[in-house]
Amino acid sequence: MAKVHVFDHPLIQHKLSIMRDVNTGCKEFRELLSEIAMLMVYEVTRDFPTEEVEIETPICKTKAKKMAGKPIGIIPILRAGLGMVDGVMSLIPNAKVGHIGLYRDPQTLEPVEYYCKLPEDAEHRQLIVVDPMLATGGSASAAISFIKERGCNNICLVNLIAAPEGIAAVQKAHPDVDIYVAALDEKLNDHGYIIPGLGDAGDRLFGTK
Ligand code: PRP
Ligand code: URA
Repeated sequence: MAKVHVFDHPLIQHKLSIMRDVNTGCKEFRELLSEIAMLMVYEVTRDFPTEEVEIETPICKTKAKKMAGKPIGIIPILRAGLGMVDGVMSLIPNAKVGHIGLYRDPQTLEPVEYYCKLPEDAEHRQLIVVDPMLATGGSASAAISFIKERGCNNICLVNLIAAPEGIAAVQKAHPDVDIYVAALDEKLNDHGYIIPGLGDAGDRLFGTK
């Protein structure tokens, strides 16, 4: 079974509390999401492999460590996942970015795919799927299925806030995918929104409501 990691770092929790506040505006919401995404990916990559290389400092030759293993791909789930890309890229500037467009049908809450463009060599990359909200888990599970259908297997999922229902759904559909969250909230309401959550992440990010 995949692991669930909850990041309880004070900086992440502090920034997330400001994001949850209904009085926080678009600009600050966007900036905070980007900052938290950066802090989260710092932790997500903690166990990624390194290799020893020989370098020359201005003083002498020495051995030093560099990231090794698979190159990284970031896959934001449109729209709200876009708000996490810059933060991740600020730490991993050579990552390639693939996009998956999904929306939840407001009646059925089922995910509908409308766009998918992955890096050509996605199957050779460690893929980090990003989306601020994991509610029913329908969108994330579907996005990961689409990625797997294209031959990719090394996938992890990074969300800001998750509901227990979403975690259970992804774990059931994709037991090989580790999940990283900044907060595990209480439950979903009747409209599939996370309680207490932060409302509609896409609308708050882009000012559409
Ligand atoms: C939100 C969110 C997730 C999804 C989570 O997107 O960004 O993608 O809902 O819900 P789920 O776990 O129940 O599938 P939404 O469908 O509102 O689209 P948007 O990003 O375009 O606003
Ligand atoms: N999507 C959101 O943006 N927020 C929620 O609480 C649930 C799904």
